[in-house]
Amino acid sequence: MGKPAFSDFVSIRDFTKEQINEIMRNAAKMVPYARGEKKTNVMSGKILGTLFYEPSTRTKLSFEAAMLRLGGATMGFSSTAGTSIEKGENFSDTIRVTESYADILVIRHPLEGAARLAADLSEKPVINAGDGAGQHPTQTVLDLYTMLEAKGKLEGLNIVLLGDLKFGRTVHSLAEALAMFGANLTLVAPSSLEMPRDVINQIESMGVKPNYAHSLEEAISDADILYVTRIQKERFADPTEYAKVSGSYRIDTKLLKQAKSDISVMHPLPRVNEIDPEVDRTPHSLYFRQAANGIPVRMAVLCMLLGVEP
Ligand code: NCD
Repeated sequence: MGKPAFSDFVSIRDFTKEQINEIMRNAAKMVPYARGEKKTNVMSGKILGTLFYEPSTRTKLSFEAAMLRLGGATMGFSSTAGTSIEKGENFSDTIRVTESYADILVIRHPLEGAARLAADLSEKPVINAGDGAGQHPTQTVLDLYTMLEAKGKLEGLNIVLLGDLKFGRTVHSLAEALAMFGANLTLVAPSSLEMPRDVINQIESMGVKPNYAHSLEEAISDADILYVTRIQKERFADPTEYAKVSGSYRIDTKLLKQAKSDISVMHPLPRVNEIDPEVDRTPHSLYFRQAANGIPVRMAVLCMLLGVEP
């Protein structure tokens, strides 16, 4: 086993552009393994622990598939129901115990900072699979990978981030990474769901001044990529506040006619009503490709954290 490239994967702020490029280069090498066309057992005898305190389909299953494709094993929980957390076990005890059962942990938790705390507590590598409205850094790498695959570059791309920019953790880490790579950002959000100040400060510290569009038509007119997000219903304390913004935007083929002919539409998924299914059949839709790219990207992250290579 080689030396791990990094000790944890908690925040995109912990990584340089060169490190992210290296993950993406490694992800490209994982593709034949991810598709099952080539076999490897580099993770034989290794266990991935998946601690999901919040719902997940893609993130959990793609981490599991990534570990299995590498010849490793997985164990974990997908809700706190049925675990000792229901008996009142605290977070740090759960981490201390599960790190003794696994070689690497993936954690999704409703509280911002939970993954950082787990990484501080655990000797084993910890991956943040979403911490409340904080970040979702492996999603960010697969988003960048998908953009690069579709457009051949990141620098200078015009990217619109649409939707719940306040609570959406995917757009927090993505906006910071895109600023690092020199993309142009346009932010479109209902007024109560704007991008948090600390993310804007981080973007601006990298020399990128985001544009703020008032209408979606205006925002997409010169966009290369429209990145759509779901309104994060589960983060609203008051259901009437959610009702006010729910359904406030929807992407359909009529709207896309007003954009550049090669605009790509991305979404971390799950979508609710933000993208009309008629878009799925057009060349604009990248979101299923994006979800599939989760496997090679997460294979690369697992290998780099454990210092192995297929
Ligand atoms: C996202 C998440 O959990 O932040 N899902 C995902 O991991 N692809 C987006 C969302 O739930 O809206």
